[in-house]
Amino acid sequence: MRKPVIAGNWKMYKTPKESLAFLDAFLPLVEGHDRDEIILFPTMSSLAYVIEATIGTNVRAGAQNMHWLNEGPYTGQTSPTMLVSIGCRHVLLGHSEPRLYFNETYERVNLKLKAAINHGITPIVCVGELLAEREDLRTEETLRSQVRAALRNISASEARRLVIAYEPIWAIGTGSTASPEVAAQAHAIIRHELSHCCGPQTAANTRILYGGSVKPENIGELMAQEEIDGALVGGASLVPTTFADIVNYV
Ligand code: PGA
Repeated sequence: MRKPVIAGNWKMYKTPKESLAFLDAFLPLVEGHDRDEIILFPTMSSLAYVIEATIGTNVRAGAQNMHWLNEGPYTGQTSPTMLVSIGCRHVLLGHSEPRLYFNETYERVNLKLKAAINHGITPIVCVGELLAEREDLRTEETLRSQVRAALRNISASEARRLVIAYEPIWAIGTGSTASPEVAAQAHAIIRHELSHCCGPQTAANTRILYGGSVKPENIGELMAQEEIDGALVGGASLVPTTFADIVNYV
């Protein structure tokens, strides 16, 4: 019922030329793969090229962030209408890097989420606790308040296409992955809060991905958890063969 999503977050890596070289190597390795949805998140400068090069394939491409307004005097920003105009139908919102380094807030994530929904763009909303919050036993409180803030005033029907990524900040780019059990527990908390915000049906249908040092060696045990509906992969999505090994996990 919840089709898994394996997504690659390229962060600030790869020029258009490098992105297209990735696709040349990667697309044949996942050709015909239909078990999971495959989505790449290149930088804004590569996005239109990647979308163009994946037309007619089983791979989709999305933006790593966006503004919530359609246009305006906002230097450095890209709007939902601009994304739609290049055929972009996916966006990452609330990733911990913009939250930690560029003052992204869940109030803004909420505005962006509404804009994505209004423009038919599938949002992947990231949530996750800091190491200090986990050590203080505040993981549950943190995750619940992040989900609640992101979903403020969003109805069950609006949340239909929502995807959530649980990305514990202590696991991102550190090589220390959450154990499958720890991840599954966090997913259950998120699903419970989703049910609270948008009802049990939405909670049951929403895909919750795990992100944080996912690699070919741990994807299988993570995906074996009933609660885990896919992965958001950073570093390991940059190499075509490695990312294909993750997509083709058994
Ligand atoms: P990582 O990044 O796989 O390199 O830990 C995940 C992410 O930030 O989405």
